[in-house]
Amino acid sequence: MAAENLITKASILGAGKPKYQAIADELALHILNGQLPTGERLPPQRKLAQRLAVTAGTVSHAYAILEQRGLATARVGDGTYVRSPEQAAAPADSSTPVDLAHNVAIPTDDGLALAETLQRLAADPRVLRQALSYQPETGHLRHRQAGALWLRRFGTRGDANRVMVTHGAQHGLSCILRTLARPGDAVLTESLSYPGLQALARLMRLQLIGIEMDAEGMLPDALAHAARNIDAKLLFCSPGLHNPTNATMSLPRREAIAEVARRHNLLLLEDAVHAAAQAAPLPALSTLLPEQSFLLTSFSKVAGPGLRVGYIEAAPQWLSKLAASMRADCWMVAPLLPEIATDWVDSGVADQLIAAQRRAIAGRLAVALPFLQGLDYRSDAESPLIWLPLPEPWRASQFSAALRQAGVLVRTADHFAVGRTAAPHAVRISLNAAPSLAEIAGAMQTVLRVLQGAPTTQMDP
Ligand SMILES: Cc1ncc(COP(=O)(O)O)c(C=O)c1O
Repeated sequence: MAAENLITKASILGAGKPKYQAIADELALHILNGQLPTGERLPPQRKLAQRLAVTAGTVSHAYAILEQRGLATARVGDGTYVRSPEQAAAPADSSTPVDLAHNVAIPTDDGLALAETLQRLAADPRVLRQALSYQPETGHLRHRQAGALWLRRFGTRGDANRVMVTHGAQHGLSCILRTLARPGDAVLTESLSYPGLQALARLMRLQLIGIEMDAEGMLPDALAHAARNIDAKLLFCSPGLHNPTNATMSLPRREAIAEVARRHNLLLLEDAVHAAAQAAPLPALSTLLPEQSFLLTSFSKVAGPGLRVGYIEAAPQWLSKLAASMRADCWMVAPLLPEIATDWVDSGVADQLIAAQRRAIAGRLAVALPFLQGLDYRSDAESPLIWLPLPEPWRASQFSAALRQAGVLVRTADHFAVGRTAAPHAVRISLNAAPSLAEIAGAMQTVLRVLQGAPTTQMDP
C-alpha cells in the first residue's frame, strides 16, 4: 500500500495525542512492522498534510520525530526515506550491550531546568547563606512546605508538619526501617518487590514475607492470611505502578488493603516513586491510614536520581522519631538539593518535568511495544517498564543469558523475588536507560528474535 494511504485522518484525530505525535507514531508502527520497507520514500510533506487536513509544519514535525527515533533519514532536496531499525540501531561498538535493565529517568531537557535554577539560586543571598548552615533534621520549613505542596498530587493534606525531606526514597526507607524495625522482624511485602528494600532487609537482618499478587498488586486475602499467621507490624507496598509488574491498585483494592492493615495494626510503608510520574495518581493508600502510614516518594523517576531529594509524609509524632535516624546518618539533607526541588515545585518546573517524562515514556513505548504484539506483556502508558512473562519453553535465566549474548541486558524476575518465593518465568524490560529510540528499536528486535528462537541448554558432563 502506498505510504500516504497507510494513515487516515480518522486515525490521527482519534489518537488522543498531538497530531504530529500521532502521525509519527503511526508511521513508526508501519516502519517497525515492515509495511513501510527500508528505502521507501515517505510522502512529500505537503501532499500528506493536504490528505490529513493538517499543516505542512505538523507533518514536518512528525518526520523530525521519526528521524530522531532513527527510523527515517532526510535527504536534502529529495525527501525523507525509511531507514531500517537494525541499520539505525547498529551500535558503534557492538561489544557494548544495550541497557534495557537499569531503571532511571529519561533525560528530557539536557539539564536546562537545572542550569536555570542554579543561576537563580546563585543570585539569592538567603539561599547561599542557608546552603552552608545546619537545618532541622526533618528539613527547612520552606523545603517541607514545597514537599507538602507537591505531595498533594497523591491526595495528601498539604501539611508541612507531616513532611520530612530525605536524600531520596531509599534513604527515607532506611530511616524508617532503622527507627521501627529490629533484627529478626518480619516485613510483609509483594511477592515481587523493590530490590532496595531487599538490600536493607539483608543488612538489617529483617525477614521479608512475600504476599501473593494479581494484576492489581497485593491480594487483600493473602495479606490478611499472613497478618494472622505471622508476627509482623510492617507492610511495604507500591500501589501505583509497582516495580517490576506495573500493577496499580484500584480504589476498592486500596480500601481492602487499608482495611486489613487497620484490623491487624500494620504500619504501612507506601512507595510512590514510580507513581510520581503519573499525571493524576489515585489517592495514596496512606491517605486511608493517615496515622499509621509513611508515604515515600522522590524526584528520581521524574527528574533524575542524582538530585537525591525525596519526601516522607507521615504523622508528626512519627517524624520526630525518624529525626534520630537522620541525625545519626548525616544530621540533615544537604540544603542545596531540596532548594532546587523547592524552586521546581514553586515555579511549576516540577510539573513540566513530569509531563516531559511522560511524553518521553510514550515515545519509547510507541517504538518498543509493536515488537511484542501478540505476547502477554504488561505495560502502562505512564511507565517506562514492560513486564514480560515468557512463553514456553523459556526460563528467565536462559532468556536473559541469550539476550546478553546478543547484546541486550534485561532484569529477570529473580532480581525482585522475595525470600524463597518461586520467581515467575518473566523479565523486566526498562525503556528509560538506553540513550536513543533507535537503540531501543534495535534491542527490541533482538528481544523478539531471541524469543522466537529456541533456548539452548548447556549441560556440564
Ligand atoms: C520502587 C522503587 N522505590 C524506590 C526507588 C529508589 O528511589 P530513590 O532514587 O528516590 O532512592 C526506586 C528506584 O529504582 C524504585 O524503583
